[in-house]
Amino acid sequence: MSNETNVTWHEHRVSREIREKKNNHKGCVIWFTGLSGSGKSTIANTLDHLLHQADLQSVVLDGDNVRHGLNAGAGMLKDAHGDDFSKRFGLGFSAQDREENIRRIGAVAEIFTQIGVIALTAFISPYRTDRDKVRNTLREGEFIEVFVDTPLDVCEQRDPKGLYKKARAGEIKGFTGIDDPYEEPTAPELVLLAAEKTPDILAVEVITFLKDKGIIH
Ligand code: ADX
Repeated sequence: MSNETNVTWHEHRVSREIREKKNNHKGCVIWFTGLSGSGKSTIANTLDHLLHQADLQSVVLDGDNVRHGLNAGAGMLKDAHGDDFSKRFGLGFSAQDREENIRRIGAVAEIFTQIGVIALTAFISPYRTDRDKVRNTLREGEFIEVFVDTPLDVCEQRDPKGLYKKARAGEIKGFTGIDDPYEEPTAPELVLLAAEKTPDILAVEVITFLKDKGIIH
């Protein structure tokens, strides 16, 4: 055998501690949960901007975007021959599909945490057990559950995508808050009153929490 084929792979592990030292903050998951239209994505993106401006490493994963890519739904997944294989891997809104949606996002967020990034996730994540499973994949203090507590009638009035109207008309079945459950967190790290305060004020509330916990300085 010629020498060129004897390639040796040298594994150099960049530890999480080294990455966190370089970033000057810790990695964590800020898990926003709440009804559709409650303000999760808006607050997550406002917070992301503030963190970025302060030179911190953050990323936003949100429901509508992730459901176009990693967790694409029915009719959105085609193989090389144009065959739809979303029946096998596409995700909809049944309890089982929502569970898998949250499991995959939790796994991605956990990887970001491992590399010292602040991962901001904005998914309805209506089931307590699904959220708790993600919490259990992380170390103590790394999963920050943020309940975006906007009453249903306010979300319905906002109806930014017109989906509540469709759900009330019976055009969408199993819509969270209408004919599908939303289980409020029992012991969230933070509760944001998004019907009463602006996204800027709420993002600062999260920043204050992160400082108090020593995640950022
Ligand atoms: S989750 O329940 O699995 O966490 P996710 O946050 O990814 O949901 O997606 C929610 C978004 O999908 C909503 O904001 C809305 O735009 C859209 N959507 C479509 N159908 C439904 C439904 N049946 N229930 C809730 N949201 C829906």
